[in-house]
Amino acid sequence: MGLRVGILTGGGDCPGLNAVIRAVVRRAVLEDGAEVLGFKNGWRGLIDDDFVPLTRLSVTGILPRGGTILGTSRVDPQDHPSRIRANWDRHALDGLVVVGGEGTLRAARDMWRDHGLRLVGVPKTIDNDLDGTDFPFGFDTAVNTVMEAVDRLHSTAESHHRVMVIEVMGRHSGWIAAYGGIAGGADVVLVPEHPFRITRVCELLRHREQQGTPFSIVVVAEDAHPHPEEDFLDPSAKEQIYKRGRLGGIGYHLATEIERCTGIETRHANLGYVQRGGSPTAFDRVLATRFGVKALELVLGAQWGQMVALKGNKVVSVPLDTAVERIKQLDEEVYRVAEVFFG
Ligand code: F6P
Repeated sequence: MGLRVGILTGGGDCPGLNAVIRAVVRRAVLEDGAEVLGFKNGWRGLIDDDFVPLTRLSVTGILPRGGTILGTSRVDPQDHPSRIRANWDRHALDGLVVVGGEGTLRAARDMWRDHGLRLVGVPKTIDNDLDGTDFPFGFDTAVNTVMEAVDRLHSTAESHHRVMVIEVMGRHSGWIAAYGGIAGGADVVLVPEHPFRITRVCELLRHREQQGTPFSIVVVAEDAHPHPEEDFLDPSAKEQIYKRGRLGGIGYHLATEIERCTGIETRHANLGYVQRGGSPTAFDRVLATRFGVKALELVLGAQWGQMVALKGNKVVSVPLDTAVERIKQLDEEVYRVAEVFFG
């Protein structure tokens, strides 16, 4: 019997997931008799034995499509190890490719370490918060979406002489905000790594107005916090904004406070799930494809417990254990570049 490999996509959807699925399948079919089973909706598929055989034909045309043809979920496999093992044995799987972000890959690490599942990981996240890889796929597309939105929102800001506050995703790190802000020419970028002083933000915006630029763009990450010494959020606002696993809303409160302290008309826009959707950029398509091919080669080499990763311009493998050890925070050098353009 030839190689039998499973693949699943877990966590939030992300541009490039279909490109990885396609690459895994295309690399697998180069091996005589190889079969790929696509488990549906993340770990849920392995728990419920919900799968679809993936062939060269079934992955035709999916490279440019956003989302994942397999569906996704945030189910924790640690709650169902025996069902997973039973389904694994039923299919006589040789290995599993797990495509996911920090939560999914942490679970993969646990399933490998605690239950001996022979698996390899592929990092996807629009947040770029996974340690162990210079970049995952998905981030570049999200940043391009933010950049386009900032470009468009410039029109309103400029025409109406307003401040536009643009809230972006990123979970607990400021990568999307900093890259999107730099690419879109934002006048202020607020990130979780640097609690912000609202007096300083207002001062920068007023200064711009005094210098003859009566409009501004502020990009704020969903988990950016006011400095404790200048906290303008009441407890109920905080509860709403910083919900565990569900951030969102700082943009509205920030815009209200900016209008109050500067007297400049201010509006906000929350880009939300738009950042996760759509067709992957060329960078993400290529990276996801390289990751998919490498993941299948790790399976062929029985390199279990590894994650594919980008280091410099090379696709390599790193132990899953170290990759999920900690969240990758925004690089200080990148933040300092964004800061040069404040005000
Ligand atoms: O990790 C991707 C991400 O879009 C984050 O930026 C955001 O905080 C979170 O997922 C939203 O999660 P959900 O899809 O569960 O609402």
